[in-house]
Amino acid sequence: MKHFTSVHDVADIKDLAQKALDYKSHPLKDSSLGINKRIGLLFLNPSLRTRISTQVAARNLGMDSIVFNIDKEGWNLEMADGAIMNGTTVEHIKDAAPVLGQYFNILCIRTFPALLNKEDDYSEHIINQFIKYCGIPVVSLESATLHPLQSLADIISIREEHKSIAKPKIVLTWAPHIKPIPQCVANSFAQWVNNWGEAEFIITHPEGYELDPAYTNGATITHDQCEALKGADFVYVKNWSSYKDYGKVICTDTSWMLTQKHLDVTNNAKVMHCLPVRRNVELSDEVLDGKHSIVTKQAANRVWAAQAVLSEIIRNN
Ligand code: CP
Repeated sequence: MKHFTSVHDVADIKDLAQKALDYKSHPLKDSSLGINKRIGLLFLNPSLRTRISTQVAARNLGMDSIVFNIDKEGWNLEMADGAIMNGTTVEHIKDAAPVLGQYFNILCIRTFPALLNKEDDYSEHIINQFIKYCGIPVVSLESATLHPLQSLADIISIREEHKSIAKPKIVLTWAPHIKPIPQCVANSFAQWVNNWGEAEFIITHPEGYELDPAYTNGATITHDQCEALKGADFVYVKNWSSYKDYGKVICTDTSWMLTQKHLDVTNNAKVMHCLPVRRNVELSDEVLDGKHSIVTKQAANRVWAAQAVLSEIIRNN
């Protein structure tokens, strides 16, 4: 593994998930692997779990980490090739990224989509510019379209819970939200579950919320949430804005919020969400605080996912 920006950087999902679970059992088993190595975590957007879990993972491997909230503390970066920089941008990515490549052994970046222009966001221009110019391995901390560290943690969490089920039924359900949210987590979860191939996978959402088929092909897609939830072993709840009517909120139907009543038709489904979550908008309190919620476990598993990825990159570079 050179970079980690999608499932396509992973040779074997099951093997990587097992490595992560091995770290969960023995967090410090490779505590000298990253000695004298340094990881940079660049945030163009806020984070709680991704930032801290990746730092803990680096520490477990003996690495130093430096967090840089570049959106608040750095120069305003220019991303456009050939730009005449007589406006608000101060430093070109072509100049900043190679410098960061000199300071770190691995560069991790969080860069959300603007949700204004589908082509711009789906070109993944910003993370690709970092990859092009920094000269060191790059790890996505959530990019414009994908959130692979989250998805690996999600697969690990499902694996831990479904030991007795040969092929669990996993339902990804859209939930309401008060503002436009990126499609990253949903795209990425679909991409990983489809490539993992160990589940019956259903996606349910209101009309107009179809995700990019590049990620969902292989899943069953329905607008009937109740039908989708029948017999489910796992229910992953997530809002996303429209891909078709790009970045827009086109449904505010509160009946899509996941409540205990929705869960009654499932197979005592475990409930997942990547967090942060809008309580009583996306999911009801009773579900989040109930015994079937595994959201905290999912977030805890972010450490082992990050540790497995960082160790692979250190070993291969
Ligand atoms: N799930 C997730 O990525 O959380 P943060 O945005 O807090 O990092």
